[in-house]
Amino acid sequence: MRTSHVGMALLAASGSAYAQLGLPMQIGPLHFSESCQKSIFEVFTSGSFASCFRTADLLPLITSPNASIVPVLDNFMTDICGPSDVCSNATLYNASQVILSGCSGDLKNESLSDSVVTTAFGLYPLVRDVLCLKTMNPYTNMSYGGFLGNPPIPVTSSVYNSTNGTFCVTSLLTQLSAYFNHNITVSWIEAALMGKNSTAVQLVKEINPNILCNECIFGAVDLVVEAFPAIANISVVNVTMKLDPNITLNIPQNATLVSLMDKECAYKNYTVTMNGTLPWNITESAQNRTMLNSTLPMGMMNMSMPLNITSPMTMSMPMGMSTSSGSAMPSMTSSA
Ligand SMILES: *[C@@H]1O[C@H](CO)[C@@H](O)[C@H](O)[C@H]1NC(C)=O
Ligand SMILES: *[C@@H]1O[C@H](CO)[C@@H](O)[C@H](O)[C@H]1NC(C)=O
Ligand SMILES: *[C@@H]1O[C@H](CO)[C@@H](O)[C@H](O)[C@H]1NC(C)=O
Ligand SMILES: *[C@@H]1O[C@H](CO)[C@@H](O)[C@H](O)[C@H]1NC(C)=O
Ligand SMILES: *[C@@H]1O[C@H](CO)[C@@H](O)[C@H](O)[C@H]1NC(C)=O
Ligand SMILES: *[C@@H]1O[C@H](CO)[C@@H](O)[C@H](O)[C@H]1NC(C)=O
Ligand SMILES: *[C@@H]1O[C@H](CO)[C@@H](O)[C@H](O)[C@H]1NC(C)=O
Ligand SMILES: *[C@@H]1O[C@H](CO)[C@@H](O)[C@H](O)[C@H]1NC(C)=O
Ligand SMILES: *[C@@H]1O[C@H](CO)[C@@H](O)[C@H](O)[C@H]1NC(C)=O
Ligand SMILES: *[C@@H]1O[C@H](CO)[C@@H](O)[C@H](O)[C@H]1NC(C)=O
Ligand SMILES: *[C@@H]1O[C@H](CO)[C@@H](O)[C@H](O)[C@H]1NC(C)=O
Ligand SMILES: *[C@@H]1O[C@H](CO)[C@@H](O)[C@H](O)[C@H]1NC(C)=O
Repeated sequence: MRTSHVGMALLAASGSAYAQLGLPMQIGPLHFSESCQKSIFEVFTSGSFASCFRTADLLPLITSPNASIVPVLDNFMTDICGPSDVCSNATLYNASQVILSGCSGDLKNESLSDSVVTTAFGLYPLVRDVLCLKTMNPYTNMSYGGFLGNPPIPVTSSVYNSTNGTFCVTSLLTQLSAYFNHNITVSWIEAALMGKNSTAVQLVKEINPNILCNECIFGAVDLVVEAFPAIANISVVNVTMKLDPNITLNIPQNATLVSLMDKECAYKNYTVTMNGTLPWNITESAQNRTMLNSTLPMGMMNMSMPLNITSPMTMSMPMGMSTSSGSAMPSMTSSA
């Protein structure tokens, strides 16, 4: 089921896929009616949202499942970070209305409110800002004392955008590809998520929590916490309890994501800022930035709702790999 999140986003990038393939009837815990599937496809394959969010750039993820996803994403980010590719409020609003009109019955069946959809589109400025972070200190085979070795594609490759730094997503995925000693491809991710590649599963479990101690991750968290300051006060134990009551974490009840990151990474002297100030060597490359919709934080803080709904969007986030396998995230902190 997990892979159908990925599959969904991938299919959505393909123009005529709906007619040819149809859609999975179930995505994660959600069942989608035909009218809902149609409206999602419409938004992601045609119209102004598809052109400003450049979903067509992601097509190679479907057509070449055995090629590295990193050059595809790097190209996608180059396109969405420029000045001419900003989605306007009107575009985001219209896209959410198309989906709401096709999916209203589905949302009702799942007892979800319309704000789930408007929130998802309202997060666009934050998602774009996070994707457009660049680092002047990207992963190389000399990082971490050369411990992880050579990645399959070095960040210095000419396929990557190197104007004023390397995209953080590219740097982090390059680091992961060195750790896994394999190109990060759609096939590889699917095998790992489905548990079909036990070597990969084992390596995921053994990821050192200090992978979080990276300027790029701190930069992303800085932006998220600036947008939603309440996140800094949410207990990690409370959230994991909600996700899976069986998980026991060896951390204080009042520990927050921010306090854990600061503690884990004290040896690197990193701290999460609350004001959007980015770490040294990290810059925001997004041009013509837009503001988060001011009505968002209320919906965002209803933890049971966005945790389910925004998870499919994490395919764009480097850490999405660990959140989608349920127990990988807690194990990263509990083994600290
Ligand atoms: C990694 O992916 C790139 C691009 O898809 C490809 O050119 C390269 O040969 C791959 N490397 C390995 C070791 O598979
Ligand atoms: C690299 O990305 C920036 C925006 O982040 C863009 O202005 C520039 O043209 C891109 N360079 C190349 C070679 O694509
Ligand atoms: C982007 O911002 C620049 C200056 O801040 C402005 O001149 C330009 O018109 C903007 N472009 C778009 C597409 O809004
Ligand atoms: C910034 O990046 C440069 C180049 O990789 C590196 O030498 C330097 O240590 C970094 N600065 C900090 C504060 O991490
Ligand atoms: C790169 O950085 C320089 C100096 O900070 C700046 O003038 C230029 O606009 C930047 N280029 C892009 C594409 O952001
Ligand atoms: C499984 O994952 C490991 C670790 O990334 C990799 O070395 C191996 O090639 C993968 N196996 C297959 C069949 O893709
Ligand atoms: C965690 O949950 C408990 C009980 O539900 C609550 O009293 C406490 O305020 C929560 N703590 C945080 C930091 O959210
Ligand atoms: C928690 O563990 C019990 C007993 O092992 C199991 O029956 C239950 O399904 C688990 N709950 C979750 C949410 O995984
Ligand atoms: C948790 O509570 C302890 C004891 O009350 C306190 O010293 C600590 O600073 C708190 N941690 C956080 C992250 O609030
Ligand atoms: C850690 O950062 C603080 C403030 O940014 C600075 O004053 C201090 O010297 C740094 N410590 C080390 C060991 O780099
Ligand atoms: C942002 O917060 C950091 C501490 O988290 C502080 O050092 C910095 O001066 C603040 N910057 C601004 C512009 O307020
Ligand atoms: C878009 O919406 C946000 C929040 O509602 C608002 O702050 C911003 O001014 C709007 N931008 C435009 C161009 O209308």
